[in-house]
Amino acid sequence: MAGILTRVRVFFHRHLVASLSGRLLFFTTVFVLLAELLIYFPSAARQYHDLLAARLASAQIAVLALDEVRDTDLSPELRREILANAGVRLVGLKRNNTRRLYLAESIPPAKDVEVDLRTAGMVELIWDSLDCMVFGDDRVLRVLGVPRLGAGDLIEALIDEAPVRAEMISFSTRILGLSLLIAAVTSGLVFAALYYLFVRPMQHLTQSMVRFQERPEDAQRIIVPTLRADEIGQSERVLAAMQTELRQALQQREHLAALGTAVAKIQHDLRNILASAQLASDRLATSKDPTTQAIAPRLVSSIDRAIALATNTLKYGRAEEAPPRRRRQKLLAIADEAMHAALAAGDGRTGWNNAFDSALEVDADNEQLLRILINVGRNAAQALEAREGAAITLSAHRTNNVVTIDLSDNGAGVPEEARKRLFEPFAGKGRVGGTGLGLAIARELARGHGGEVALLSSGDNGTTFRITIPDVAALGDGPP
Ligand SMILES: Nc1ncnc2c1ncn2[C@@H]1O[C@H](COP(=O)(O)OP(=O)(O)OP(=O)(O)O)[C@@H](O)[C@H]1O
Ligand SMILES: [Mg+2]
Repeated sequence: MAGILTRVRVFFHRHLVASLSGRLLFFTTVFVLLAELLIYFPSAARQYHDLLAARLASAQIAVLALDEVRDTDLSPELRREILANAGVRLVGLKRNNTRRLYLAESIPPAKDVEVDLRTAGMVELIWDSLDCMVFGDDRVLRVLGVPRLGAGDLIEALIDEAPVRAEMISFSTRILGLSLLIAAVTSGLVFAALYYLFVRPMQHLTQSMVRFQERPEDAQRIIVPTLRADEIGQSERVLAAMQTELRQALQQREHLAALGTAVAKIQHDLRNILASAQLASDRLATSKDPTTQAIAPRLVSSIDRAIALATNTLKYGRAEEAPPRRRRQKLLAIADEAMHAALAAGDGRTGWNNAFDSALEVDADNEQLLRILINVGRNAAQALEAREGAAITLSAHRTNNVVTIDLSDNGAGVPEEARKRLFEPFAGKGRVGGTGLGLAIARELARGHGGEVALLSSGDNGTTFRITIPDVAALGDGPP
């Protein structure tokens, strides 16, 4: 028994209290009842008016009948009975400025409440009808009105309020029952319509999200959009596209992770192999044989490159970049260090100009900023190899909270095919012997600072890369 109760409670909580549909049902019912209430008050007033008008009308018929016969033809008992049957205790009819009174009893009762149907407006009638239902019981009501069919100027009647009240209460009870029925039917219909049009499709969407989140690799859990053209149909299609993309991205990530592990293993062994090769090549370099002497440096540099390639690939694959440890410091020191490292990659004849205020400070992780500058600077040095008057210029300035560093060279420009996927890792089409990681890493590090690395311009006269590093304080205020 307790189990059934709990299940019923859980059912109601899930479907009525905690769900969209339950709230929908609740609000529809409340609103329909409110609307019914707004209709009820005027119709109660109307009913009250009609009841009183009917009383006056039957009073009028009764007194007209009494007027037709001579007083002596009717016994006083019969006269009273005729009036009592009309539900009135006293009637007064004013005709041609003479007022006649007809009494149902010898001593007329005193009036408690008065309603003048000639002047009463809607608000007054609403008030009077409520007053009648709440307080009316043993009271005597004086009703005034205009006689029907032009039978006089004024008709008034004293009536007992109790029967009027009883009729009003029965009217209200009928209206209440009807209202509840209408509310139930309307809310039921509105609820059913909204449930099938909105709530169920929304539940379908939500469930699909939840199911997909549990196992995103399962293609069966991607939502199958319906043919609806409205916003819900649109959401379904967008969700399906998102889920498909996400699933593919996750798959790709998994593959890349597997690949990374494989590369790590290969690199581990490769390093040992290369170490022996390095030893051997070092020995070769000391050889007296001129041919060997000529080949040895190239062999050494090839092996160095192979080691660098394996190490860089591994580093990138692990995505082990630590968040920047930022500090405000002079750019000059970092630029000098970058210069030495970058120029070492070139042919040794390239010049380097620092064209910025030596006091300029940058808020950055010096190790990471150095790597950004080395990667961009080394590309420039490599592009300038064997070029007359080759020079690299590093200019920089601060605007509010952002330091902008432009690194320019006077080389031949970035090759067209390299430009399209310049910042994508391993994109290829670049320099012979390049890994294609330098700019990807530089951009990732700059973005880690909330900044950016971008190709500003490139052509026959040279290339400029722009690096922006916003201060950490500036990052909270939106994009720099
Ligand atoms: N200043 C430049 N002038 C001309 N070409 C450039 C310049 N900077 C970059 N490039 C081109 O962009 C390509 C991509 O550069 P990136 O640094 O990403 O890779 P990489 O230099 O080929 O390899 P890695 O830097 O990983 O050793 C380069 O191969 C080169 O073709
Ligand atoms: Mg490079």
